[in-house]
Amino acid sequence: MDIIKIGGSLLTDKTIYRKFYQKKTSKIVQKLSGIEKFILVHGGGSFGHYISKKYGLPGDITEERIKAASIVKYDMADLNQRIVKMLNLAGRPAMGISPFFLDKNNSFSYGIVKKVLDYGMIPVLYGDVYLRKDSIRILSGDHIMSSMAQLMKPKRAIFLTDVDGVFDRDPKKYRDAALLKKYSTESVDFGMISNDVTGGMELKFRSMVNCRNFGVKTYLINGNFPERIEYIGKKEFVGTEF
Ligand code: ATP
Ligand code: IPE
Repeated sequence: MDIIKIGGSLLTDKTIYRKFYQKKTSKIVQKLSGIEKFILVHGGGSFGHYISKKYGLPGDITEERIKAASIVKYDMADLNQRIVKMLNLAGRPAMGISPFFLDKNNSFSYGIVKKVLDYGMIPVLYGDVYLRKDSIRILSGDHIMSSMAQLMKPKRAIFLTDVDGVFDRDPKKYRDAALLKKYSTESVDFGMISNDVTGGMELKFRSMVNCRNFGVKTYLINGNFPERIEYIGKKEFVGTEF
């Protein structure tokens, strides 16, 4: 069993509110639908981060944040259902699961994920808002990935994003940035985060290290070339292995 995360930067244009990349997402989902057994996790992109950033989520409870939380919850469910529909059309019964409803006694209880898997369906989890006693918070898809690595003991954790892997510095800013094929302990520069309320590449990086520390083989791959998943463990592989 694998756990796979599709980053929000692949699903959406992060600079335009709710701009969905239908074709790109469909290509990725088609490719994933050939994998035998997996849990899918996805990010929010401009369905999650845009309104969150505009209205100051996460944060203490205010009237404005409560309104924003309702919109973000709706937008994330909408994005999730588009992905679930694509999996269903590809012949893989899938079930969307928001962590909003799994938050009990200050921790997330993921029992339903196991149940959905046992029924032969693909659980499709995603980053979302959730409510705590004095605040409205956001759980990122990357965080869900490390929880899944710990609880479900998958064979592989695969993170799909819009660059070829982890570089020694941001490849979109520095053309001479070097791809790290195998990450162990090198120091990496992640620069500043702009359109991301959950921590950008740096947080993803920490989640990937966590997955590896739970004993799961972990990879960062460019989702614009989903066929690269097939090259994991082979000489032709392009990406970062943790
Ligand atoms: P999520 O938003 O769920 O965290 P995502 O797939 O949308 O995932 P981003 O958070 O947008 O990914 O992070 C990917 C971006 O991180 C890349 O587009 C790249 O510009 C940037 N980045 C910054 N530093 C690095 C680095 N050292 N190596 C690789 N990418 C980096
Ligand atoms: C973000 O989830 C969810 C919300 C902002 C509500 P992620 O942090 O996993 O999303 P991406 O992948 O960065 O877009």
